[in-house]
This record gives sequence, C-alpha cells and structure tokens, in this order.
Amino acid sequence: MEEKNERIARCIGPVIEWFRRVARPLPWREGRDPYRVWISEIMLQQTRIEAALPYYERFIRALPSAEALASVDDDRLLKLWEGLGYYSRARNLKKAARIVTEQYGGALPGSAEALKKLPGIGEYTAGAIASIAFGRPVPAVDGNVLRVLSRLLACPDDVGAPRTRAAMTELLAAHYPTGEDAGLLTQGLMELGQRLCLPGEPDCAACPLAELCLAHTRGQTADFPVRAPKKPRRVQTRTVLLLKCRGKTALARREDAGLLAGLWELPGADGT
Ligand code: ADE
Repeated sequence: MEEKNERIARCIGPVIEWFRRVARPLPWREGRDPYRVWISEIMLQQTRIEAALPYYERFIRALPSAEALASVDDDRLLKLWEGLGYYSRARNLKKAARIVTEQYGGALPGSAEALKKLPGIGEYTAGAIASIAFGRPVPAVDGNVLRVLSRLLACPDDVGAPRTRAAMTELLAAHYPTGEDAGLLTQGLMELGQRLCLPGEPDCAACPLAELCLAHTRGQTADFPVRAPKKPRRVQTRTVLLLKCRGKTALARREDAGLLAGLWELPGADGT
C-alpha cells in the first residue's frame, strides 16, 4: 500500500478510540437525529461550539422538525438566528426544509449526493450529516481536519487550495468506516483539530496520532499546514444617512442576494 494511504488507514482506529473517550455530551450527539445534526452542522459552519450551544437549544425548542422550520415566519426565523451572523444560512435552512417536507416527507435524505442538492449544504456539510446521522462512509473535511491531515502526512501542498482539500477527502474516503464509527471518525478528526492539533502550539503529548504524525516525529509541527499568502481583505466604503422624523428613524432593506442579504440597515449608498 502506498505510504500516504497506509498512514491514513492506521490513524482511523486511534482517532475513533480517542473520540469515544473524550467526546463532550453535546445535545445533537444524543440519538443522532438527522434534523438535529443538520441544524447543528449549519450553525457550526461559522460559529464555535460554545457560542452556538444556546442558539441551538432555543432553535430546536422553537422549531423541532423540518415541517416546523418549513412554515416558520421569516422574521421569527431571523430573530432565532440573530447574533449568529451569516443570515443566508437561516434562509437556506428554511428553503431546504421546504424541499425536505415536499419531496422527502419531512425526513432528510441519507446520501451525501442528495444532501448536497439542498440549499446551504455543500460537500463538507453533506459529509458531516451523512456520516454522523446516517453512518455513511463519507468524510467531512473542514479546516481543522485539513490541519490534522496536513501534519500527519507532512503535506507540502497549500491547504487553502481546493485541490488539496479534494485530495485529502479522497484519501480519507478510501478508508472510511460505516455505521456509528463513520460519525465518530468525522467528529473525532474535527475535535482533534479543535482541541489538540491547534494552529499555534499543538498538544502532541496528548495526541493519539503523535507516533504516526510525520510533522511531529520530524519536529516540524510549526511548518504545517502550508498556506499560500492571503489575498488582501476587500474594503467597501458606504455613506449612511440618519433620517429622523417625528421620533422615527428610516431603515432600508438590503437586496435579497449578496452580503447581509435582506437585512435592515440605515439607508445609504456606496462611496463617500
Ligand atoms: N464542527 C462542525 N461540526 C462538528 C461536530 N459535529 N463536532 C465537533 N465539531 C464540529
């Protein structure tokens, strides 16, 4: 077996074993309910676990099923999402819930291919839901997982490049287990990146992969992952107007697509 493949194959058991030992009891981990796993994965796309928890609890209490989400009033939905940011996530959830209700009788489909066709679900989230909720052998490679694999293999390729992510996904997919282990591996790799294999100083002493990890055994954890320089941040200049009339302040609604789509703001225009 090729060297990279062998290293990946050998890390699977230890990651699952480690995760079984250290997994935190999070609400979406109880019972692996696909709807709950879906909502948690969408929230966790851009939000840390600790920050997402109270929103998650409130959201599930208010909208406990795809049917409830499909028929929720937009303002109520945005209120439930308020504070999490990236509001297109909430809008896509509702659109997807409608499709799930109309086409799948209210139950999320289990294959990554079908999940990927739903609004707001890309390759990563499809893999996460398919493996965690349905036990399918599909990886979910986020930034944390990329860092773990990049160090494990001392990978010289830019982790920001789509090609690198695709190659890592393919490598993992060839060795993915099925059933409960699929979800344990997905979450174990994510949590290894969140808790031990940190971007700055990794805690290799506690890592179940230390002996298998090329970056660690070569004393090069600081050299991985390799990352190409970032493009400079795009700056937008806006002029906003504070228009008041008899105690009321004028607000305008942003367009339905793009940055902060559909949200209310002070009226204004681009530029100064
Ligand atoms: N990040 C995204 N999904 C996650 C999960 N299920 N467990 C831990 N971290 C995550």
